[in-house]
Amino acid sequence: MKVKKAVIPVAGLGTRMLPATKVVPKEMLPLIDKPGIQYIVEEAVASGIEDILMITSRGKWTIEDHFDYAPEIEEKLKAAGKEDELAMIRSLANIANITFVRQKELKGLGHAIWCARRFTGDEPFAVLLGDDVMCAEIPVLKQLIDASDKFGASAVGVQYVGNEDIGKYCSLDVENIENNLYLVKSLIEKPEPEQVMSNFAILGRYVLTSGIYDVLGNLPPGYGGEIQLTDGLNKLCAREKMLAVEFSGKRYDTGNIKGYLEATIQFGLMHPEAGEWLRDYLKSLKL
Ligand code: G1P
Repeated sequence: MKVKKAVIPVAGLGTRMLPATKVVPKEMLPLIDKPGIQYIVEEAVASGIEDILMITSRGKWTIEDHFDYAPEIEEKLKAAGKEDELAMIRSLANIANITFVRQKELKGLGHAIWCARRFTGDEPFAVLLGDDVMCAEIPVLKQLIDASDKFGASAVGVQYVGNEDIGKYCSLDVENIENNLYLVKSLIEKPEPEQVMSNFAILGRYVLTSGIYDVLGNLPPGYGGEIQLTDGLNKLCAREKMLAVEFSGKRYDTGNIKGYLEATIQFGLMHPEAGEWLRDYLKSLKL
């Protein structure tokens, strides 16, 4: 399946990072010198995505500005002869075709994806969750797209999550096909300990067929009174083949303080100008 479109839901309020997220969208918090959302868009583009729809909500306009031209800054950089910075700032506005739709009521991830139906039409599409920033040699979304292409099926990105944390995610019943690929038999969102089917949970990446809309349209509210994408996937995998791809790479939940700090340190250590300095600085702390 050729996947050229991606949906990035960014409507959530970011209450786990208050007060930082009172006026700044959580996706715009910087991981060193780039906002988290930029890493996600770059992963999508590196995976072959050309068109991106962001599902936004009130107060998220700075995300739109980040992927637009910035005439005042550009003028300044031009006048100062800072050609590299100018090219870098300008390239953000052309990184992909990015459009925005507002989710007027926050009714859950399943409802956010439902808002993308006119954008994706009948085509298969990717979903990248705005909080889940990846650090991987092969872009995580590309790993999913390759598997989905090979088997002509939808695919979800999973990793092993310990018993103490699986209830914060979802749990999948799967059957191994080959190496890191599994057939999805059923899924449950935010399982209670006795409902856990395996320690595989979806971590922020999906490739879906338009069949998802047939199930989302009639889905009752699930966990937390919200329309859950996982509930839709549970219905979809009974109708069509769905893969779970145990992806290589590290995922950071940048929507909470610990995940945000881990990502900041990781990307800081990888930063071409600050990495070496940060390594020495952390060593000098002698914790
Ligand atoms: C969402 C999904 C859940 C998934 C998680 C991590 O949960 O509903 O299935 O495991 O993202 O990607 P949330 O973090 O919004 O509670």
